Amino acid sequence: MLAIKVLPIKGYKKVIEATDPEVGLHCFIAIHSSSLGPALGGTRIFPYATTNDALIDVLRLSKGMTYKSAIAETGTGGGKSVIIANPKVDKTDRLLQSFGQVVDSLQGEYIAAEDIGSTVDDMLIINQKTPYVSALPIATSSGDPSRFTAWGVFRGLQAVSKHIWKTASLRGKTIFIQGLGSVGDKVANILFWEGAHLILNDIDNKKAHQAALLYDAQVVEGSDIFGVKCDIFCPCAMGGILNSTTIPQLKCQAIAGAANNQLLDESNGIDLMKRNILYAPDFIINAGGLMSATAEYNPEGYHPLVVRDKVNHIYDTLLKLFMKAEKEEKPTNVVANEIAEHNLQHEVGKRMAKINFEKNRS
Ligand code: NAI
Repeated sequence: MLAIKVLPIKGYKKVIEATDPEVGLHCFIAIHSSSLGPALGGTRIFPYATTNDALIDVLRLSKGMTYKSAIAETGTGGGKSVIIANPKVDKTDRLLQSFGQVVDSLQGEYIAAEDIGSTVDDMLIINQKTPYVSALPIATSSGDPSRFTAWGVFRGLQAVSKHIWKTASLRGKTIFIQGLGSVGDKVANILFWEGAHLILNDIDNKKAHQAALLYDAQVVEGSDIFGVKCDIFCPCAMGGILNSTTIPQLKCQAIAGAANNQLLDESNGIDLMKRNILYAPDFIINAGGLMSATAEYNPEGYHPLVVRDKVNHIYDTLLKLFMKAEKEEKPTNVVANEIAEHNLQHEVGKRMAKINFEKNRS
């Protein structure tokens, strides 16, 4: 039987924990803020070692979504969900349908989408139980967001290059991509055509070697990867990878990638600045997917060209941010947080029109 309980957590609008032992569901949904609109964020399906690890992750990720939405001005708030399960073995239609009921219980306060471990097809199954799902592969929705995320990351890499080397071209630059999933592989593909030299790493070595054949890239196996010499390190896997152990090892001039919550702690931004490594704040560079998913709620409907324009602006947003951080002698993550907090305080980009969720009712 499905059981849902509310967890009182300071600083969060609503956090719920749900279990349905019959189908193996144990999940959390965290709504950090709805002050600019309904909370939208992906559903991560991951075999967390402990329940507390899952809770910490959903809290960090949902807060990140608040900041991401505030800077991208998508008229949405910050939310996220995590399901404690191994997506390769435990993911069943019944589990996803039960999760759909949990999402539905929030009546649109939280809108689900893809994330690590979940796919557009999974969203269709969740959609059988709730219309509060975005990025569905159907005409009324916006489809797989990862191509927009990947293009936004590429635009971010160009901004980094412009700031450091005074040219947006990445031709001949060595870029090290960690994680060759939905986003990382697409970034690699774009960079191949751009003429960059690629170094690749994935926990799944086979994936890395397959991609290396396509992109004439070099593979670095294993997890001891932070000392790899490159121009830009592009994390496209898990968060928390920039910390007091890894930062001293880095041999790159910049970090710019899709992974959420790359800094283990906000103070790690200072460590990067001290090492003169330019950091493109994750919640700005990876906002392309969010821009696509939220565009399906535009009153005029979803138009990929509108999203393309918005995603292209990630270049300008980052360039301005890099210059501001340099001028004020502050870490880039601090400046990014300040802009997001300003937008939240002054309700910049707040959604005024009501969303028509009926369009996605299956
Ligand atoms: P994905 O699940 O499709 O791909 C992740 C890849 O990373 C997989 O190939 C996996 O084998 C690899 N991986 C996992 N742990 C690893 C490790 N410790 N070392 C090396 N490789 C590892 O996920 P997706 O969608 O590509 O997302 C990647 C990152 O970007 C995540 O942090 C996600 O939250 C973030 N992101 C994704 C968006 C999207 O549109 N898909 C939007 C914004 C952020």
